[in-house]
Amino acid sequence: MVTRERVFEILKKVKEPELDQSLVSLNLVRDLMIREQSINLTVALSKKEDATVQRIEKEIKELLSVLTESQVHIRFREMTDFERKEVQSKLAGGAKEAPKQSQPPQPHTQPIPAEILKEESGVQFIAIASGKGGVGKSTVTVNLAVALARKGKKVGIIDADIYGFSIPDMMGIENRPEVKGNTVIPVERHGVKVISMGFFVEDNAPVIWRGPMLGKMLKNFFTEVEWGDLDYMLLDLPPGTGDVALDVHQMIPQSKEVIVTTPHATASFVAARAGSMAINTKHEILGVVENMSYYQCGSCGEKDYVFGKGGGARLAEELNTDLLAQIPLGVPENHPQEPDFSPSIYKKDTGIGKTYLEVAENIIQVTQKNG
Ligand SMILES: Nc1ncnc2c1ncn2[C@@H]1O[C@H](COP(=O)(O)OP(=O)(O)OP(=O)(O)O)[C@@H](O)[C@H]1O
Ligand SMILES: [Mg+2]
Repeated sequence: MVTRERVFEILKKVKEPELDQSLVSLNLVRDLMIREQSINLTVALSKKEDATVQRIEKEIKELLSVLTESQVHIRFREMTDFERKEVQSKLAGGAKEAPKQSQPPQPHTQPIPAEILKEESGVQFIAIASGKGGVGKSTVTVNLAVALARKGKKVGIIDADIYGFSIPDMMGIENRPEVKGNTVIPVERHGVKVISMGFFVEDNAPVIWRGPMLGKMLKNFFTEVEWGDLDYMLLDLPPGTGDVALDVHQMIPQSKEVIVTTPHATASFVAARAGSMAINTKHEILGVVENMSYYQCGSCGEKDYVFGKGGGARLAEELNTDLLAQIPLGVPENHPQEPDFSPSIYKKDTGIGKTYLEVAENIIQVTQKNG
């Protein structure tokens, strides 16, 4: 079988021409996606020159032809500034230093099969995705999770945004998960079980793990965490269609998607890319949530469509799915003195809180209908 590990293993031989080091060890093989008929990947280079590109393409295709008859598609691009910096620190030996961390779940020598990932576990996996950052994925994730819990469902959240984790802060979680023997007990808040990279990083130190480590962390969130009985598991994805999104797609082929967009046309255009990835990888799209749809005047009730109109509906049409909700602009009315203070969670009896209950009801209907 073609696995990510084997592909990376084989590609270790290929060197970045300028830096004379393995592309894999420099983490310049990105976006690897293994499908039935094809393998897709991106290679980032110091300089993208035709001759180099052709030579590396040939080398990679030859190496992979030993492993599989699948078509190999390689995209080449120049390194981003961020990648350049990372590569430099790797070359300077900086990457050998372990990141500051408490105790993330460590892989066992004998891996526990991830019960939760088995089809018969009955857990409905829902990834919350968007093409663009900052549209409200994490806000939608926490509020949809809490709304499902308010409707009596057993719900978990995996904060799969390993670098940009925000779920613990948004839910006002200050404690850390308990570790029992080899397993981690998720933190519970508003009836939702939560696990996040944020729990394993000290003082919000930036997470510098990349590539293979990422996939491992994500896998550990399934295998090393004691989730108990769940009806729904929501995954808050990082923006875009990068490595993590692909990992999630591969690890949980049965996961469904909710796509978040703002009403602005370009925002929905980028979200369409995330959506078409879901379609290409055969993940069912449950629907589109349009966030920040309008501002409703508190005194006169009039709606002001500050970011334009219709993006969510258009996107839903494009993806051949439903518009699940339009969520207006609004800040949750929470006070730090309250016992269950959560900065980003709308109370159930407020306008937006009720809208989320409707989204939850919609999701319950669709997932029950389709099984
Ligand atoms: N309906 C809303 N009304 C007002 N503010 C909102 C609304 N939805 C989200 N926000 C705010 O917008 C910001 C971005 O939201 P959020 O972090 O949920 O987006 P995201 O898509 O997860 O971002 P990222 O791509 O960085 O992960 C946050 O400060 C959040 O509180
Ligand atoms: Mg987010």
